[in-house]
Amino acid sequence: MGVVIIIGAQWGDEGKGKVVDLLAESADVVVRYAGGPNAGHTLVIGDDKLVFRLVPSGVLHDHTVCILGQGMVLSAKVLGEEIDALTGRGIDLNSRLHVSEHAHLIMPYHVMVDELREASTKGTTIGTTKRGIGPCYEDKIGRRGVRCADLRNLIAARARVIEAIANWTPTFRELGGEPPEVEAIIAQLEQHAARLTPLLADATALVDELRRAGKSVMLEGAQGTLLDIDHGTYPFVTSSSATAGGACTGAGIGPSKIDRVIGISKAYTTRVGGGPMPTELDDAAGAQLRDQGGEYGSVTGRPRRCGWLDLALLRYAARINGLDGLAITKLDVLSGLEEIKVCVGHQTPSGSSDSSPVGQLANAKPIYESHPGWQEDITGCRKLDELPTAARNYLSFIEQQLDVPLYLVSVGPRRDETIVLRDAFA
Ligand code: GDP
Ligand code: IMO
Ligand code: MG
Repeated sequence: MGVVIIIGAQWGDEGKGKVVDLLAESADVVVRYAGGPNAGHTLVIGDDKLVFRLVPSGVLHDHTVCILGQGMVLSAKVLGEEIDALTGRGIDLNSRLHVSEHAHLIMPYHVMVDELREASTKGTTIGTTKRGIGPCYEDKIGRRGVRCADLRNLIAARARVIEAIANWTPTFRELGGEPPEVEAIIAQLEQHAARLTPLLADATALVDELRRAGKSVMLEGAQGTLLDIDHGTYPFVTSSSATAGGACTGAGIGPSKIDRVIGISKAYTTRVGGGPMPTELDDAAGAQLRDQGGEYGSVTGRPRRCGWLDLALLRYAARINGLDGLAITKLDVLSGLEEIKVCVGHQTPSGSSDSSPVGQLANAKPIYESHPGWQEDITGCRKLDELPTAARNYLSFIEQQLDVPLYLVSVGPRRDETIVLRDAFA
């Protein structure tokens, strides 16, 4: 099996880090294709918890080649810190960590604008991670972005920075801030250049070469389908193409070369930041999910909004991404509930729908089906038939409703706390 895309099927934080780390055992190459250090992917190895913001989650397996693709926006500072932390743990990154020369760099003015906008009372507040993601992608689309390749030519980079700062200056003034000095930015870029230039690669050519040599490639999604700039709950989205189509452009692999798309969903729903979420619970059940699931942002620490699983939205994710398989995570978090509700459709002003129009979610009311819960601790289960009957029935219901086969079920944060049902690379 050649190329497998792992995608978040909800609003992010589905457990992509854990799943990618687990599956990377059978992958030769892991490519991140979109987003930046907006949030984080958590890996729990033994008693250690690691949060990766830029580096692909396959990096802990020393046989993997890890690539930061050109659909990404990078903070050179965060990347440097991650490399230091990994090297400090004795992980050898030598000649196996590569950065696309066409990935864009998040500049200090991007972070400043993101923060000013979030603090402002003017316009729509998205509840971003304030890491400069939106403004960086704005410069990319506006064709005044600074790319990693520009680190090789700081004279050219200076011209880009001057153009970008001129463009952002009215925004700074409007939001009550001051644009930064060009010279200070260039001085920082000089420092980053020394560190990053040796990692730069023609990433699409590298992935192609490895794929042709018979290596298995995993494309690691960030964020999730409902945060996608085109297909998410706009404007409450991130600024990248987080879906399977984005994997092709972000990693530079043609759609005909993709062998499988696997979507990851929690056994319930969470969301961070603003925007509609039909199954959100403001009651004790929601608080229980948050507490038992440890539902706080892995980097920002923000409490995640929690609610029941929304199959109408997952059907949509299955369609948009062309899902071939599903991974359900955090099933253990539902243990101890008497009743588990599942949203099977939405009631909207224009009628009921079982595959919801994301544009109408603000006025959508969930249509629930109720399922019996289970009381047992399931973190020790490694096979489907070790799960309580109610848990098995819950999984079968999801699989039937979505008509997408289950590839794995995660019952705890650790690598081994997983029930593997199908081989992602077979
Ligand atoms: P990502 O952004 O999709 O990689 O997800 P995050 O790492 O931001 O959030 C998922 C959180 O759930 C992390 O703290 C993981 O350690 C944790 N996690 C992943 N899978 C499971 C699981 O099956 N059960 C439990 N209890 N926690 C899990
Ligand atoms: P991972 O990869 C959950 C959300 C933010 C906000 C919106 C826009 O860990 O799954 P941005 O900073 O991207 O401009 O914020 O997107 N968001 C995430 N939510 N997980 C993520 O990533 C997210 N990345 C961005 O909370 O609502
Ligand atoms: Mg996350």
